[in-house]
Amino acid sequence: MKDGKFITLAFETSCDETSVALVADGREVLSNVVSSQIEVHKAFGGVVPEIASRHHLDNMSSVYSKAMEDAGVSLQEVDLIGVTCGPGLVGALLIGLATAKAFAYATKKPLVGVHHIQGHICANYIEHEDLEPPFLALVVSGGHTHLINVKGYNEHTVLGQTRDDAAGEAFDKVARVLGLGYPGGPAIDLVAREGNPHSVEFKRAMLEKDSLDFSFSGLKTGVLNYLNTQKLKGQEINVPDVAAAFQLAVVDVLVAKAMMAAERTGHNKLVLAGGVAANSLLRSMLSEACEKAGITLYYPSLKLCADNAAMIACAAYYKYLDGLTDDMTLDAYPALSL
Ligand code: KG4
Ligand code: ZN
Repeated sequence: MKDGKFITLAFETSCDETSVALVADGREVLSNVVSSQIEVHKAFGGVVPEIASRHHLDNMSSVYSKAMEDAGVSLQEVDLIGVTCGPGLVGALLIGLATAKAFAYATKKPLVGVHHIQGHICANYIEHEDLEPPFLALVVSGGHTHLINVKGYNEHTVLGQTRDDAAGEAFDKVARVLGLGYPGGPAIDLVAREGNPHSVEFKRAMLEKDSLDFSFSGLKTGVLNYLNTQKLKGQEINVPDVAAAFQLAVVDVLVAKAMMAAERTGHNKLVLAGGVAANSLLRSMLSEACEKAGITLYYPSLKLCADNAAMIACAAYYKYLDGLTDDMTLDAYPALSL
């Protein structure tokens, strides 16, 4: 299957998902295979980096074979190789990188290293075929909480970011203390539906006036203090209530800052991306706020919110079109900035 199409083969191994995808002309997903290690890491309450790397290594060959088979593409038909080169767990990133570099070397095809956040933004190009920059992006995941002015496919200005915990990290940590397991985001999202979000009013950290930065570690401590106080008083803890109140506190801040950024930049398109973009309250409250402000909101389907290689292939394609290719010295950068 080629039909004059430009085929990108991409690898994503920045955290606990081993993913390989084939994408035609940047936006048409031919295959997107994701092998999740959630069950492996659940026992530890979070991702164990060394275990993640070993599993990437074990999984890579079968995930690659399935991606090629699903797409019905041969290696000779691949035009470009893309790979996440950071940020992420260094040992995990290196497995994807070594694989991508080996393929690029063997096939003599161009290689493009992709920033993981740029990948998350690109998930929206796959989902919404008419979407083009410029726009404002809110990227919320386990490792990032960023407001980004996307001026072009490869032109990003960070307007604000978290100064401590990422939004997803806060979800995961609070879920753990509530005994909801890992990953915490989906668990809180689900249980919060049964709770009263106004049962406790947790403090929202808005930081300095006009700041577009975020801070979620105080909120996490607020939840811990509340739980300890309740225990000392001998009062029972209503998990759905606490989950709902915590979730609302996070979402309130995300929506307020996104709207502030939209007003400041004058963008009338807002793109939501990253694992936390799957959150049902965030989607509904942001939709409502955007509708009121006359802003069009874009977000990916659930599968494209989480880590996957199709979004990396899309980002690699647009970098390639702008001549942004890499050579064999491409390395893993655990703290790569955008
Ligand atoms: O983008 P992602 O798959 O990995 C990173 O790049 O970090 O995001 C994973 C994060 C986890 O913290 C997870 O708890 C969170 O996304 N998450 C959610 C939901 N689904 C996943 N957070 C809130 N609500 C959800 N429904
Ligand atoms: Zn991610």
